[in-house]
Formats: sequence, structure tokens, C-alpha cells
Amino acid sequence: MTYRVPLSYNSVGEAEIEAANAVLRSGYLTQGSRVSEFEAKLAEFHGVRHAVLVNSGSSANLVGIEAAVYLSQLRPDLTGGPILTGDEVVIQGLNWPSTLKPIVNHGLIPVLCDVDPETLSATPEHIDAVRTERTRMVIAVPVLGNPGALDELEAYCRETGLLLFVDGCESLGAVTPAGRRVGSIGLATAFSFYFSHHITTIEGGVVLTDDDHLADLCYALRAHGWSRNLRLEEFLDLDTSRVDPRFCFVIPGYNVRSTDLNAAIGLVQLERLEEIVAARQRIARNRVAALAEHQDVVTVPGGSYGDGHSWMTFPMVFATNEARDRAQSRLEELGVETRPIIVGNTLRHPLARNLALSPDQRELPVCDAIFERGLMIGLNPSSDEETETWVHHCLREAARDR
Ligand SMILES: Cc1ncc(COP(=O)(O)O)c(C=O)c1O
Repeated sequence: MTYRVPLSYNSVGEAEIEAANAVLRSGYLTQGSRVSEFEAKLAEFHGVRHAVLVNSGSSANLVGIEAAVYLSQLRPDLTGGPILTGDEVVIQGLNWPSTLKPIVNHGLIPVLCDVDPETLSATPEHIDAVRTERTRMVIAVPVLGNPGALDELEAYCRETGLLLFVDGCESLGAVTPAGRRVGSIGLATAFSFYFSHHITTIEGGVVLTDDDHLADLCYALRAHGWSRNLRLEEFLDLDTSRVDPRFCFVIPGYNVRSTDLNAAIGLVQLERLEEIVAARQRIARNRVAALAEHQDVVTVPGGSYGDGHSWMTFPMVFATNEARDRAQSRLEELGVETRPIIVGNTLRHPLARNLALSPDQRELPVCDAIFERGLMIGLNPSSDEETETWVHHCLREAARDR
């Protein structure tokens, strides 16, 4: 079925095609100068020292979280102690499954916490409710462009000695109430440049960090564990005297590199990011206003948030499961594509069996409500007035309590 309002849309235009063609014609097709240029611009935009471009947001979480664990084991003096098998990592139940994998890979125990119904993100109170003596790291997941409580979470982690890693894959361009960009908070942040996100490299992702050692571990993990151009030998005090420096491997790594072709597309898209975020905010505000008279049936999480919200999609939570199901059918009938709000609640998915969750894992009532009563629709920043008037009509139709 072709939807009039699809969940995702193609934002790659002539300028991106030109830039990609120029790379293809240059003959240098793998990770090269375009990747370095894109990394430098991403780091500058976020005011951090390092950006490590990889081939997806999942890979950014993989190398970023793994680098944090390695850093804690190789240099516990820098992280307040090593993160060891059996230690706990707190992450909200409304997350993305591939972010759980690096936790499980290291024999760490994911502890799922609940979220705030307005921001859809965990607050320090949610973390505190599940924290134990074995908790070592918090993975914050500001979802759908809503920066949530990142300012407070950073202060909380600093006070309690926990490492803070941010899975910001859905929140590029978001700014916290304290005026700080998501991407500049905590030890490191992952972003995704998948096709349907704020900007795209088709597939792609990045780890941002101010920490030189963490960045070097990410560079090594990204490319086979190579130490090329890194300061790891010195930092880890390694004897590499008998190894060819071009082929020296310091840790077991992956290959999750990006290419100049993807970076060239990303460079063009990044130029437009602020314009894209402003358009998303305008469209979201108008949709929230269109639903104002139906607040007894449907609310928009983040609808009262100020200018820092970068609105990746448009989420709604209905008063009952039946109202959500009815609204979903009506929207689909009218040509508006719908989907659940991310996973809703991880505990309700079959994958929860594979997470080795603690026997003390709590139920998550707000995540459950999002699972049972939530849905979201696409938000295309290029959507014109006529289409948005149609969307407003469809949203009101969906909210009508029949
Ligand atoms: C919160 C979150 N984290 C991680 C990812 C993974 O990103 P990617 O699809 O680029 O692997 C996504 C994907 O949408 C996501 O929503």
C-alpha cells in the first residue's frame, strides 16, 4: 500500500547525488578524507573533541559501550573501578534491542527501569529505584528527539560514580533545558544516520566523546583492533617493538567502518540539520494544537516541551488500548502509516528471555502503558501545508471517541 503520510521518506536529493558521484569518480571509495571531514564537522557541531563514524547507530552503541567497558578494565584509575562480569547496567525498558546486545556480550546484567510518561525517558528517580551495589553504568535513551532528563541524569551519575553513556540515536539536533546539545553529555553518545532519522547517510552512525582514550578504543574497535595513528601503546603501556606499526593489533576488534560515499551524503545533509529541526518543531506544534480538544482521548508525549525537542516522529498515547486500536485502524484506512512507539516495553518481547535479567527485575507500568496504548506516525520536515491540513483532519478523526 502507498501511504499519503508514510513513516519514512527519501531526503536524498540532487546535492547528495552529486556529492556521492564525485566520490565514485574519485576512485577512493572506502574510509578516507570525506569520513574525516564529516567526523570533524560532527564533533564541531556538538562541541566535542572526537567523532568516530561507523556503519550504523547499533554499531555506534556497540563500539561505544564496549570501549567504555574496556576503558574501565584497562584503566580503572580513570573510571572509578573496572566493570566486571555480573555488574549491572541500568537502561530504560523503552529502548532499542541492539543497544542491549553490547551489555549482554560482556556478561553484564541489564536492569530495565521505567520512564516518565511525558518525556518517555528515565529520570534519576527511575534509576535510583533499581540501583544496587553492583550498578556501574547508566545508558540513557532520550527517544524521538526529546532530550528528557539528561541534565539531571549527568549530575546524578557524577554524584553516584556511575558511567553515563547516551544512546542518542533518535535525538540528533535536540537541546536540553540547560541549553546543552544531546551529543555533548556523559562519557559518550551514539547517533544513528539511518534512512528515517533526522539526517541520513543511508545506513550510518557515530560515537561522540570528549575522552581521548575512549575515542582511541572506539577507533580500534571500529577497524579490526588496529592501533594505526592511535595513542594506545603509550596509554596502555604496551610493548610493540617487534610488531610492524602498520599492522599492530591492540585489542580484538570488529569491522564497522563507514565509507567516503556515505560520509559525502552525510556532509550535505548536516548542512541542513538546523533547518530540518526547525521544520520538525513547527509541524509537531501544529499537530499538537490540532489535537488540543481531544486530550481526554489522546495525549502527545513531549507536546509541552520547548524548543529543544527535535521530533523524530509524532507519538501519541491513547486513553485505552481499544481507543488506540481504533485510532490505528482509522489512520491506516486514511493513508497514514502507523507503528508502535519503538518497542513499548522490552519485557513484553520474546527477546527478554535472552537477556539474563535479574530475578528482581521489576514490572514497568509506564512502559506497559506505552506498549498497550501508544502509536506513532511519520513526521516529514518537507511536508507541505495541504498535507499537514490533511494530517490534522486524520488525527482528529482518529481521536474521535466512537
Ligand atoms: C534508540 C535507538 N538506538 C539505536 C538504534 C539503532 O540504529 P541503527 O538502525 O542505525 O542501527 C535505533 C534505531 O532506530 C534507535 O531508535
